[in-house]
Amino acid sequence: MAYEQTSIDTKLIHAGEIRPGIEGAVSLPIFQSANFESVEGEEYHDIKYMRLSNSPNHTVLASKLAALESAESAFVTSSGMAAITAIFHSLLETGDHVIFQDCLYGGTYDYARREFARHGLTCDFVDGDRPENWSAALRPETRMIYFEAITNPLVQVADLSAVVEFAREHDLVSVIDNTFASPVNFRPAEIGFDLSLHSGTKFLNGHSDIVCGAVIGRTEPVAKVKKMMNYLGGSLDAHACFLLHR
Ligand SMILES: Cc1ncc(COP(=O)(O)O)c(C=O)c1O
Repeated sequence: MAYEQTSIDTKLIHAGEIRPGIEGAVSLPIFQSANFESVEGEEYHDIKYMRLSNSPNHTVLASKLAALESAESAFVTSSGMAAITAIFHSLLETGDHVIFQDCLYGGTYDYARREFARHGLTCDFVDGDRPENWSAALRPETRMIYFEAITNPLVQVADLSAVVEFAREHDLVSVIDNTFASPVNFRPAEIGFDLSLHSGTKFLNGHSDIVCGAVIGRTEPVAKVKKMMNYLGGSLDAHACFLLHR
């Protein structure tokens, strides 16, 4: 069933579900299996293997998250930082430059300040409230603009439509950390963001009992980030998928 037209409450319960339920199970069972039978000729990324995030627990959860944000595609990760670093390392090349909002989650800020240079990446930080100043940070090698929906820790909300507009105008990938808003309050794809990410550890899970993350957005960049995540190994295990899916 397509869930585009249903309420977010219905999507939260039903989107992505396998029907009829396996063995009549109303709740998706946990597929605690690292390996699955292979089919001859399968591409590396299509082999069914827990690190490649393609067990039923992963795919059902991914479909639900995409539906919740009215987005094309999604996958889950072992943490929010796994999602963030995989985005940088899949969508940026040595020499690229990123424009960041100047208020950011500390881990993201630290990673950009301390680790970007080792990978040949550079960045600048802009005031989210002053779109008129963002072009001063542009360089010929700028590839990405990265904001937070509601910033951690200062709970600032920038003009997020202006971010999308700026990205389109300058051919940048637009990325937003949607952790603090959650899909209940904000769905970045609906205003045109290419990618949204979450520390699912927070509101997406809601029970404070797992660390997890998610990447949600347009099919093409999500697929690129997922391939990188398959190599980096920051996948979520099936039991944690079950806990996030509740
Ligand atoms: C806004 C935001 N983004 C990303 C992260 C990183 O997520 P995780 O701790 O799940 O790796 C956090 C963690 O506090 C956060 O608050």
